[in-house]
Amino acid sequence: MQQMHYFDNAATSWPKPEAVYQAVDKFMREVGANPGRSGHCLAKQADSMIEETRQLLADFFGAPDPRQVAFTFNCTDGLNLVIKGLLDPGDHAITSNVEHNSVSRPLRRLERQGVDITYVQADAAGLISADDLAAVLRPETKLVILTHASNVLGAIQDVPALARVAHRHGALFALDAAQTAGHYPIDMQAMGIDILVVPGHKGLLAPYGTGAVITLRDVGIRPWRDGGTGTKSDARLHPEELPYRLESGTLNAAGIAGLNAAIKFINETGLNTIAAKQRLDIQQLLEVLQEEERVTLYGPKDASQRAGLVSFNVEGLRSAEFGQKMNDEWKVAGRPGLHCSPLSHRAAGTFPDGSYRLSPGYFTTADAIEAACEGIRRICRS
Ligand SMILES: Cc1ncc(COP(=O)(O)O)c(C=O)c1O
Repeated sequence: MQQMHYFDNAATSWPKPEAVYQAVDKFMREVGANPGRSGHCLAKQADSMIEETRQLLADFFGAPDPRQVAFTFNCTDGLNLVIKGLLDPGDHAITSNVEHNSVSRPLRRLERQGVDITYVQADAAGLISADDLAAVLRPETKLVILTHASNVLGAIQDVPALARVAHRHGALFALDAAQTAGHYPIDMQAMGIDILVVPGHKGLLAPYGTGAVITLRDVGIRPWRDGGTGTKSDARLHPEELPYRLESGTLNAAGIAGLNAAIKFINETGLNTIAAKQRLDIQQLLEVLQEEERVTLYGPKDASQRAGLVSFNVEGLRSAEFGQKMNDEWKVAGRPGLHCSPLSHRAAGTFPDGSYRLSPGYFTTADAIEAACEGIRRICRS
């Protein structure tokens, strides 16, 4: 099979840095033990790798304390933990109309149980205004939970402004950074993010099965599972102490070893270098898309205002048909459809067919970008 050009990094990044493959392999072959579960050297080695990774994540995202970093198995896992671990019947929470299902579905379930949810509306480009948020905040609002960038529209929200408004009304501000973590600078303290939820396997370039919930302080998130933590085994109840309160059962230590190597790779490469490469790739795709009369582009037109994805439709073709042509004729692996975010598609007016999304990554080559651009041009002119 001819090699595919991978353009689905918004779903999961691939390939990973070589150091990530090596770290996973080395950990599984040479350490292998269950972190924190036994006093032997191998378990201690596994444990210190885990603790080092907490510190790496805390430093990377400007969180003051590695004990406020809890590992999860993906971003959905972390978002469920936060939403269901904080909200009770009678509480009020605010989210937006450009959220991924992993925010909107847990909230909908809670809505049926008596949690009051308000959906603030983004503008046509997908941006949420601080004034619109202020207008729906109430004294009893407990949580504002928003995506940093919609995985369909790509618009990067003005987080400091939104967080400031939430705090003025005494609400916690939680951010779903699925599409920004690892290629856009996030400093929790400077930006006012009380709770940050990140996947490891997307922009952070780590393996599947990794993610984290990071908090500025203990905001009282309840665990949804209790069990073994390797500490305080004599206690009848699950420990309250963070991060163990939110982590029970064996962690994905091999994946976390990969995450450890991935963050070091990003630090060594430089987040700015990664972000600049992404902006150039996106700029190039945006330019080609804007030259084609049959293309309708969704989200901001300026690469500096968007995450690493472009989403569009071509007149006369369903997104799945366009995707098939890109796949078959141009070996471009993009993603058509609803992208698990029907809300964003309703906001963009592209529900139920969706759109076609290209999400390049740090390892996307100039040849791959050229193939995607040429594919777009030729299909649009055929
Ligand atoms: C904005 C957004 N939030 C949450 C998620 C869920 O992430 P995960 O696949 O790690 O569960 C995604 C995945 O695409 C996303 O784009």
